[in-house]
Amino acid sequence: MSETSELRTRKVQVSLMAYNLVASEILTISGQINELKAQGKRIANFTVGDFAKGEFRIPDALTDLIIQQYREGNTNYPPSSGEMPLRQSVADFCRNRLELDYSTNQILIAGGSRPLIYGTYVTIVDPGDLVLYGVPSWNNNHYCHLVNAFPRQIDLKRENNFLPTATEIKEYIGKAVLIALNSPCNPTGTMFTAQQLADICDLVLEENQQRERRGAKPVYLMYDQMYYLMAFNGRQHVHPVGVRPEMKEYTIYIDGISKYLGATGVRVGWAMGPEVVMKRMSGVLGHIGAWSPKPEQLATAAFLQMDSSLDQYLSGLNQKIETRLQRIHHAVQQWKAAGLPVDSIEPQGGLYLSVLFNIKGYNAPDGEILSSADKMRKYLLTEAGVAVVPYEAFGDKENEGWCRISVGGVSDEDITFALESLPTALKKLKWSK
Ligand SMILES: Cc1ncc(COP(=O)(O)O)c(C=O)c1O
Repeated sequence: MSETSELRTRKVQVSLMAYNLVASEILTISGQINELKAQGKRIANFTVGDFAKGEFRIPDALTDLIIQQYREGNTNYPPSSGEMPLRQSVADFCRNRLELDYSTNQILIAGGSRPLIYGTYVTIVDPGDLVLYGVPSWNNNHYCHLVNAFPRQIDLKRENNFLPTATEIKEYIGKAVLIALNSPCNPTGTMFTAQQLADICDLVLEENQQRERRGAKPVYLMYDQMYYLMAFNGRQHVHPVGVRPEMKEYTIYIDGISKYLGATGVRVGWAMGPEVVMKRMSGVLGHIGAWSPKPEQLATAAFLQMDSSLDQYLSGLNQKIETRLQRIHHAVQQWKAAGLPVDSIEPQGGLYLSVLFNIKGYNAPDGEILSSADKMRKYLLTEAGVAVVPYEAFGDKENEGWCRISVGGVSDEDITFALESLPTALKKLKWSK
């Protein structure tokens, strides 16, 4: 039944917003993976931005601290803005690691970073307001939908490491109320350089000076740095206030332990920003009630102060992640040198690698022409047993063939398997024209 006839026949029993919310494409891919696994096929699953339990654990000291908090009975409601010891600890952590000076009333805690991203959208954006972000992007389309924003997507380019540039942003900034940036980036595994980011910040500052004269609402920058302690190859994480201190008035940082402490299920995230925004956002989050559990908050507060345990953990995590990313990148570069239609971007940060399977228009052995991103993905899945996520699933319709490979949910043996099966599958393809 079509959507309009469902509406006409009163089959729609929920809000139009909920009805029209697009399901995660990664979930659809997961369904196909499970089906193939049930048939006994081996699949190396590079689709999930998560950590396999047998491969990555949270720091032992954090586990002990969490258990201790439960034992001590700290299981009642936390304050809706977050436990004060954690807000204090986050303030110290950001001062030490990022040279950022935020007071506790500029910091909010929630159950992972997602509620804080949603809270930022709800607090800044009115229905119909323009939100600016580049594609491929992680979930900004969904957050725009939730708050009925007008999404202005910038088609990102390989030559810019799939990150937006000031020139691209300049065209739309006059109408935007929020610009969403993410570095290290999910899905691309790339990071802003100080110059790239400073150019964008200069635009924001210039625009806001004009708005201040007109008495108009400023444009804010949401800077998602969930992976910032996972930077490789000598890369330095850069952030708006670091490159332009005046950006403090307009930046909302999104951060948390989900990725760099391998703690996606622990649910501790924080946001920092100007008090005028955070105060309103605290009210929004209080009503949503997406609080981080109190024992996890208090345990994280203590763990963030254990500098040497944290550094030791990070060096182990990053070594393992970087080795995996580099291994795949080097293999892809060898296949490319041997003439296969592939490419990849040297890993910079996060959990991800950008890999190009430039196989659109090729003929599969069964005669099917790989005419779309989805057909290319399915070929790699069924023929090579390798599951990847095309950039299309992250809203990017321009860069066909580029895919995200995530290395947290696989084993080293899975990678070995994929590095053998992928070139074999690629060699079976015939150029069809
Ligand atoms: C860029 C980015 N921000 C935020 C999140 C969500 O983090 P959390 O699990 O803390 O909600 C993710 C998760 O994949 C992410 O990749």
